[in-house]
Amino acid sequence: MAAGLLALHRPAVARGGREALRAIAASRGILYGSTIAADQVRVDDDFLALVRRECAVLVTENELKWGNICDAPGEYDFAPADAIVDFATGNGLAMRGHTLLWYYKTPRWFRDLPDAKTAERAMLDHIALVAGRYRGRMRIWDVVNEPIEPAHARADGLRGAIFAEKVGPHYLDLAFHAARAADPTARLLFNEYGVEYDSEADDTKRRVILRHLERMKRAGVPVEILGIQAHLEIAAKSFSARKLADFIAAVSALGIEVAITELDVVDAAAPGNIAKRDSMVADEYRRFLDVALGDAAVRTVFTWGLSDRHSWIVRRESGANTWRGDGMAPRPLPFDAALAPKPAWTSLSECLAGVVRHG
Ligand code: XIL
Repeated sequence: MAAGLLALHRPAVARGGREALRAIAASRGILYGSTIAADQVRVDDDFLALVRRECAVLVTENELKWGNICDAPGEYDFAPADAIVDFATGNGLAMRGHTLLWYYKTPRWFRDLPDAKTAERAMLDHIALVAGRYRGRMRIWDVVNEPIEPAHARADGLRGAIFAEKVGPHYLDLAFHAARAADPTARLLFNEYGVEYDSEADDTKRRVILRHLERMKRAGVPVEILGIQAHLEIAAKSFSARKLADFIAAVSALGIEVAITELDVVDAAAPGNIAKRDSMVADEYRRFLDVALGDAAVRTVFTWGLSDRHSWIVRRESGANTWRGDGMAPRPLPFDAALAPKPAWTSLSECLAGVVRHG
């Protein structure tokens, strides 16, 4: 059988008969993947073996963020990103580039540029150089990360700091056109958070995003995928299946695909008991994915890490509100730190497989 032949190259079934997430996802035409960091691909350990087996696509966690790779205009360090892209290519995995623009990781020298024209030139040069360097090697490029911030009270809903102020509100469209020119084959993604839950802030963000996507489509801006980050949180916020489903359907109606780009679950509000905590994390995965994967517009799913051994939440790089008060290690991802599948894995695999649970 074809599956048997493929298994010769990269076994899809683990010891004990567990099917790989990428294979489960692929059976429904969904691409599944995870973040990777350069220091993780340099050590050929059991974690890397798990990544190879579970993922069809990888995304750079930090290695392509402008502020991390460019201390001075035109001076770039691509070694960490190259290590990841080479690893992916060598193992037959697709790549997603994250991210050409993100206000939070923008070089200091860019912030200090004297005027809008100079800033626009620097932004366009950056996109041309980076997207051009990996031309043909990125399946997806995150062009902008977190461009919307209604709390900044601009009429257009754009995040004020930094690009809308420094370059001007037209930066968003320009960035997509520049990415398209630099790499005609990568699919171009607009990444956002704060649209997953049932709150007034999420309602507003969903509305503003839709307004921008509609406008961009009308103007012929090459935005092809909306990325929903999906950093979920137990018990912190309430969830509305209807609002999420309606939002995804509205994006899809514009001819834009949807990707889940950074899925993980903060367990700060859950009790220490591991069985209880893991089951609450798994419930949060399922609540969200049941709805998100219920819409055929969602073709791509990334978790922000694969195992609790390597997670920004465990490393306390996420906000202080996401850290556990009892000092216990958070358990946000499908596999535990010893690489054993957790109940979150069961939720993810069943939702990817299209298994519908009732009750
Ligand atoms: C995070 C990384 O995971 C951390 O290692 C880093 O310290 C900060 O950035 N939304 C995003 C990602 O789009 O780029 C962020 O990644 C997590 C939140």
